[in-house]
Amino acid sequence: MSKVALVTGGSRGIGAAISLALKNAGYTVAANYAGNDEAAQKFTAETGIKTYKWSVADYDACAEGIARVEAELGPVAVLVNNAGITRDSMFHKMTREQWKEVIDTNLSGLFNMTHPVWSGMRDRKFGRIINISSINGQKGQAGQANYSAAKAGDLGFTKALAQEGARAGITVNAICPGYIGTEMVRAIDEKVLNERIIPQIPVGRLGEPEEIARCVVFLASDDAGFITGSTITANGGQYFT
Ligand SMILES: NC(=O)c1ccc[n+]([C@@H]2O[C@H](COP(=O)([O-])OP(=O)(O)OC[C@H]3O[C@@H](n4cnc5c(N)ncnc54)[C@H](OP(=O)(O)O)[C@@H]3O)[C@@H](O)[C@H]2O)c1
Repeated sequence: MSKVALVTGGSRGIGAAISLALKNAGYTVAANYAGNDEAAQKFTAETGIKTYKWSVADYDACAEGIARVEAELGPVAVLVNNAGITRDSMFHKMTREQWKEVIDTNLSGLFNMTHPVWSGMRDRKFGRIINISSINGQKGQAGQANYSAAKAGDLGFTKALAQEGARAGITVNAICPGYIGTEMVRAIDEKVLNERIIPQIPVGRLGEPEEIARCVVFLASDDAGFITGSTITANGGQYFT
């Protein structure tokens, strides 16, 4: 029987590419999403991948959603914490709501999703947790104090949990994408994108969602069993750690 992979924010953008790549690699995939029913239905119709709606910011909804996925598809072997949002603002203008929404989704979302699958992975002595952080969690970004804090927190979470999971056959790793051509990035003013962001990327282009998806497929595989607590930096040479 094929392993079950659950991808949060798995029906659009990078997450959609991850869901599809995992399906093509032989996994039974469940793609979670927050509210865009139209995109989710289209994604299911095009790929045959089941979509499940709940917010990763809500612990109880995560526990219920994961129980539903496991009842329908089987125990989750691979969890990809990909769902994320931006609420950009210079700090002097940032509201408490902008701070809280981003922390609740991009950081607490990892706790909310990983906690309910952790015991099962420990019992089965196998698990793969893959957290999608960001270049801006590594280097910080003006206008994104909330996002940079959450994404840096994801890396700390990854390293701590990797130590706890190692003896139980669970690996926990992170991927830090640079600028990838999804709606999140296309929402940036075109002039800013072309004149300020792309010139900072040594390879001279945005990344493709599939380039991140291929990193996920590798980290999920048995071949990556000795890799845990690590971060794959995939940013076209924009920032070295
Ligand atoms: N794009 C980039 O250049 C870039 C760079 C570095 C890191 N990242 C990270 O990569 C991840 C994916 O980014 P993306 O550009 O693909 O984003 P995107 O195109 O905006 O898609 C975001 C996905 O996350 C889902 N989502 C948002 N809030 C959620 C919540 N509370 N609960 C469940 N699902 C939720 C959305 O669901 P709906 O469809 O229902 O809205 C959507 O499926 C994020 O963590 C982002 O921070 C992106």
